[in-house]
Amino acid sequence: MQNYDKNLELACEKFRKILEEQLVRVENMKSQGDFVDYKSLDVLKIGVCGGDGIGPVITSQARRVLEFILADLVKAGKVEFVDIEGLTIENRIAKGKAIPDDVMDALKACHIILKGPTTTPQKGSGMPNIESANVAMRKALDLFANIRPVKVPEEGINWTIFRENTEGGYAVGSSGFNVTDDLAVDFTITTKQGSDRIARLAYDYARKNGLNRVSLVTKANVIKTTDGNFLEDCHKVADLYPEIVTDEWYADIMTAKLVDPKRRKDFKVLLLPNLYGDIISDEAAEFQGGVGTAGCANIGKKYAMFEAIHGSAPRMVTEGRAKYADPCSMLRACVMLLSHIGLQDRADKLERALDICSFEEKKYVITGRATGATCAEFGDYVMTTLQKLS
Ligand code: IPM
Ligand code: MG
Repeated sequence: MQNYDKNLELACEKFRKILEEQLVRVENMKSQGDFVDYKSLDVLKIGVCGGDGIGPVITSQARRVLEFILADLVKAGKVEFVDIEGLTIENRIAKGKAIPDDVMDALKACHIILKGPTTTPQKGSGMPNIESANVAMRKALDLFANIRPVKVPEEGINWTIFRENTEGGYAVGSSGFNVTDDLAVDFTITTKQGSDRIARLAYDYARKNGLNRVSLVTKANVIKTTDGNFLEDCHKVADLYPEIVTDEWYADIMTAKLVDPKRRKDFKVLLLPNLYGDIISDEAAEFQGGVGTAGCANIGKKYAMFEAIHGSAPRMVTEGRAKYADPCSMLRACVMLLSHIGLQDRADKLERALDICSFEEKKYVITGRATGATCAEFGDYVMTTLQKLS
């Protein structure tokens, strides 16, 4: 056998560095304080970054609607919108960073972020191998919970997906390496603190919303250590919520059961590690009209970021269809934003307006092409509907 001593030595060095970084992260989690209290702030700063592709188009409509809903608070100086430039693929490539330093400083100067989709360079795309801006932001701001609601009322579907957002295959997703020309490794990470905090949030949500079932989704039959620990830690939290039934599913059979009309109505809260949450939330969103209709909240103790669950759709831009992009994912994210900052009445009103526009009245329908309404027309439509509701 060839002598691989040098390769192994190098690999061990890299591995050690990864583990050291993760141990620091664990210590930070241990000393983390409580969730920020938005009511105690003099001014709540909402940073807005448009992102790439269709991002700026759909984000600008979401922002317009949000500013309309918060107009009184903006006028009273209680809420401030801050434009954050530079979270574009061009600037990120130029700076060689997933999130350039000045952009990161600007993000950290806000409490809440409304973020459009950003382009993620992929191996072999010709772009440099910089980390996804989403993933980098979730990690840098410690946004550990990715909450993705999916509703199809006429089919009895009302799911809330709690996706762990800082660990699993994403924790060091850009730090895998080739040990030799033939052997490559990536890593998946689970920590006790990371599993505990997402589980608490999911069970709390279930309790507060009178939902009596939480389904844990892993591949603990194969990925025994990290998924196994995730399950164990979730069960420890589940024990604190005896009124809630906890069941376990493997990710493969869960993807199947979600398409079973007899069984899928029974699911309420799904709690999953990062990668399964990514995959299953796209599948789930398809039932409500596709990923273009789904928004999400990325919640941490200090910061929170609201975004679409989909990517930047560069093809829509190259085909000249960007102005027909659907802003509903970002608008649904705004519902979650309003609810998160304690403005539940306004969140409910926006949600009602979106339901009217998308499912009931449907005066303007987005098709993604010239056959349908433009993103701006839909933004106007939502605002007119909001006005009628007040
Ligand atoms: C999502 C997206 C991202 C993810 C991509 C763009 C990196 O698919 O928010 O679900 O995988 O988390
Ligand atoms: Mg995804």
